[in-house]
Amino acid sequence: MEEVTYQGLTFEPYIRREEIAKQVHRLAQEIKRDYANENVLFLCVLNGSFIFAADLFRACDLQDAEITFIRFKSYEGMESTGAVKQIMGLSEDIAGRNVLIVEDIIDSGVTAVQLRKELDKGKPKSVKMVSLLYKPEALTVGKAPEYYGFAIPNKFILGYGLDLDGLARNLPDIYVLKDK
Ligand code: IMP
Ligand code: MG
Repeated sequence: MEEVTYQGLTFEPYIRREEIAKQVHRLAQEIKRDYANENVLFLCVLNGSFIFAADLFRACDLQDAEITFIRFKSYEGMESTGAVKQIMGLSEDIAGRNVLIVEDIIDSGVTAVQLRKELDKGKPKSVKMVSLLYKPEALTVGKAPEYYGFAIPNKFILGYGLDLDGLARNLPDIYVLKDK
């Protein structure tokens, strides 16, 4: 795996697709165990988590599972703006349902807190979150996701759905910004 360049910045390989697949599989086993015989609505937070959500949803192969989508935007370039914009809302009625939020990464936690607050208004039976990645050092509000694949240092990464201004989501592996 080689280095990649976007917008004049160099990124080096960080998490290989095989390692990602292994964690997706592990998370799926835990989710299947915890939601056995329960109806669960996967809530994919666009855009970043669409690839992870597709892999995880298939790996879970639960009988009584549905998936839907919501869209938030908080990042500009490599910085969280701190202000989260909801671009596409939720169309489902979630009253009395188990909602499992699927995120690509928990960074400041701002998106997660806003989303949980929003969902609570719909009176769900339960709300949990699964995030492929989690940056504990960057968390300023809220809590750790109930399930996560990798805890990583506070560095900018891309690939496997994660972007730099819309680019690099199609890389099958995850890359990290190279130190100068
Ligand atoms: P938070 O609201 O600060 O937790 O940010 C969450 C969102 O910011 C994630 O869902 C990502 O879309 C984006 N994000 C956070 N860290 C990174 C990163 O290292 N690379 C690319 N996108 C990121
Ligand atoms: Mg996101």
